[in-house]
Order: sequence, then C-alpha cells, then structure tokens
Amino acid sequence: MESKENIEIHEGLSGIYIDISSICKVDGINGKLYYRGYPIQVLAERSSFEEVCYLLLYGRLPKKQELDDFSEKLKKERSITDQTKQIITSLGRKAQALDVLRTVMSSISAYDETPYSSEESKNIEKAIRIISKTATMAAAIGRIKKGEQILEPDQSLGHAENFLFMLTGKKPDKDAAKLIDVMFILHAEHSSNASTFATLVTCSTLADIYAGVTAGVAALKGPLHGGADEAALKMMIEIGQPENTEKYIEDALAGKKKIMGFGHRVYKTYDPRARILKSYLDIVKNKSTEDIKRLIDISLRAEKMMIEKLGQSHGIWPNVDFFSGPLYMYLGIEPEMFDTVFASSRTVGWCSHVIEYWKNNKLFRPLEEYQGPLDVEYVGIEERN
Ligand code: CMC
Repeated sequence: MESKENIEIHEGLSGIYIDISSICKVDGINGKLYYRGYPIQVLAERSSFEEVCYLLLYGRLPKKQELDDFSEKLKKERSITDQTKQIITSLGRKAQALDVLRTVMSSISAYDETPYSSEESKNIEKAIRIISKTATMAAAIGRIKKGEQILEPDQSLGHAENFLFMLTGKKPDKDAAKLIDVMFILHAEHSSNASTFATLVTCSTLADIYAGVTAGVAALKGPLHGGADEAALKMMIEIGQPENTEKYIEDALAGKKKIMGFGHRVYKTYDPRARILKSYLDIVKNKSTEDIKRLIDISLRAEKMMIEKLGQSHGIWPNVDFFSGPLYMYLGIEPEMFDTVFASSRTVGWCSHVIEYWKNNKLFRPLEEYQGPLDVEYVGIEERN
C-alpha cells in the first residue's frame, strides 16, 4: 500500500473552482442568481428566452434589431430531418424520453460538415442550431410517447411557446406562454453544475460541441440533477391528499430518505428560482383541475414542513425542482418529459460555457489517490484456484 500524506480529497469536487467565468453567478448564501450580472428575477419578469439566450451567448443584451435577427435564426433552425424523426419514432415508445433525446442529440452532428470549430462565431451558429433543434426533438419525443403525430413548428410563436405547442398540439394562452418562457429562462443556466461540467470535460478534449451537449444530456438524467422534479412530483402523487403530507415527510425523514426538490450543493438558503416558481402557483391554481390543485396544496404543506425541519438548521431549502412538477402538469407536460424540458432550456448554458472555456482551453485531468497493492504477482489462469 502506498499513500502520500497531506492529500486533500475533494469529494464531488465540492468547493473547487475550475475556472473564472463571466456567465453566471450563483450566490448560495444570499439566495441570488445572476446571468451576466442581471438578477434572475428581472430576467424572468421582463425578458424572453430568446433574449436570455443572446445574453448568455454574446455576453450582453441585444438591441431590438439584433434580437429580431437572433430570433429569426432560431426559427430557421427549428426543423429536424426525416432521419431524426425516424430515430425518435423507432426508439420513442420504448426508451425513456431523455435517453431518446441523448441519442438524437448525438446524431445531429452528422448534419454539420464541420462539427468542430475553433471559431467563436461558428460555434455560436452551432449553439443556435442545437438550442432550436433540441426543443423540436424533445417535443417530437413527447408526441411519439403519447402515440401522436410529430407536429411541425408554428413560426408565429416564440421559442418556448412553440415548444409547448409542438408537444401538446395546443397553442398556449397568454399565461401558459409566459409560464413556459419563464421556466425555460430559469433552467437556461446554472454555472458549473454536473451536466455543464460534463459538457466542459468532454469539450476540453477539443471534441465538438455536439459531443459536449450529448454528455450534458447524459449527466442530466439522474435524480440528483435533472430527474429531481419528476421524483418530487411522484412523491406528491404518492402523498395523495394534502392532509397526508406531514406524516409522509415525517416518515421519510425518519427513514433517512431524501426529499427530492430540496437541498443544493451551493444554495444553503431558498433557491431564487424556486421562489419565482412558487409565485406562479396562485395564478395556476385558479385555472387548474382538482388534481393539480391538490398537488399544489401538497407542495405548499411539504415546503412549510421541510423549512421548519431542515431549513435554518441544515440549510436544506426548496430548489428549482420542487414546484416545477405541478406547474409542468398545468402546462400539459407529462412527468416523463420534465428532464427533456430541462435539457431543452439548458442547451444554451452548456454551449455558452463551452464557447467561453475554449478561449483558454485546458484539458481536464484531475488526480485520484491510488490506494491498493503494487507489484502484485501475476498468476496464470490455469494455476489460479
Ligand atoms: N432531503 C433530506 N435530506 C437531505 C436532502 C433532502 N433533499 N438533501 C440533503 N440532505 C441531507 C443528506 O441526507 C445528508 O445528511 P447526513 O449528513 O445526515 O447524511 C446531508 O443533507 C448532506 O447531503 P449531501 O447529499 O451530501 O449534500 P450535497 O451538498 O451533495 O447535496 C444534493 C446536494 C442536491 C445532491 C442534495 O441536496 C439532494 O440529493 N437533494 C435532492 C435531489 C434534488 O433535489 N436535486 C436537484 C438539485 S437542484 C437542480 C440541479 O442543479 O440539478
């Protein structure tokens, strides 16, 4: 056994800075989030997903004409090929939605003659293609899952509302269009989270941006990251009635179970994105079915109890994934599609980080402290007992 002294192991890279970035600031102590310096509340209230994409990719807000041109470029990239539709159709019913998205995400590099580029402007063009087509692919996956026809984009609609239209087949009303746009904005970017880091690790090898976002989609899958909203909703459905909430949470915590949609590696207070989503519950509740009203009531009771039990004492507060479930349900998005919505929004964050990282690329290659035997004698297979 060989072991060096004074080696500090940073499990999960917790507390480690990997680079300097001007894209996103997560202030986990004060519960604040900024994209390129703009507070998330202001962007959610006054901006649009298209404008936020421009901001993240170019580093500044667009002028009117720039935004119009950018939105037009996104629209032009909405279509997907028949081959992509075929892959979605053949895998869609059986495989999980995010697995299908990961597969088609990988395949769209085939339609780019030079998938890798070292030029920033070319990579922004690729990012626009990825952002736009991901929404179309995700919506198509949702249609196939429900046994319905894949719909063509409606070019009169904005990016997020068109996604909702292509998924549900219904043109969203004003409130639903605003809500899906806000949900896309809130999920667009979040610094060096697991999926963004996976994207950066992949692209630090100078693999192309499609390879990077495919890794991002793969990393998003688990319940500790992109799967938490679906898991939180499933818990609310399992709770069933609002009056069961407190006992359910009590029992779960006593059994050392994690409550999905709570806790965060960086936020040790209320996630500002969760606050924004919570503010939509009232608007939505008035227009919801009884089932969704019940889920909203359960979510509010669970939130209250978790804050009392683990908020101040353990720094475990609601995160972006807690209130998302009932809101997605209201919008007609099925639980198995939640992580594909997350991926559709986060593509812009992944691409922005790759473009920034490539300005001063350094191959990621951390160390592991090996602890085990050395110079072990090899015994031929016929002599092993
Ligand atoms: N419910 C109950 N206990 C919790 C929770 C929770 N949601 N989260 C953390 N804890 C407890 C955990 O059991 C552990 O307790 P102990 O020290 O007694 O063993 C302690 O807090 C530390 O937990 P950890 O998992 O080591 O801490 P972390 O900094 O790695 O936590 C986390 C971050 C997101 C992995 C964790 O809070 C978690 O698993 N939450 C549930 C999943 C979730 O909601 N994920 C979405 C995160 S936000 C969206 C995104 O960025 O993807």
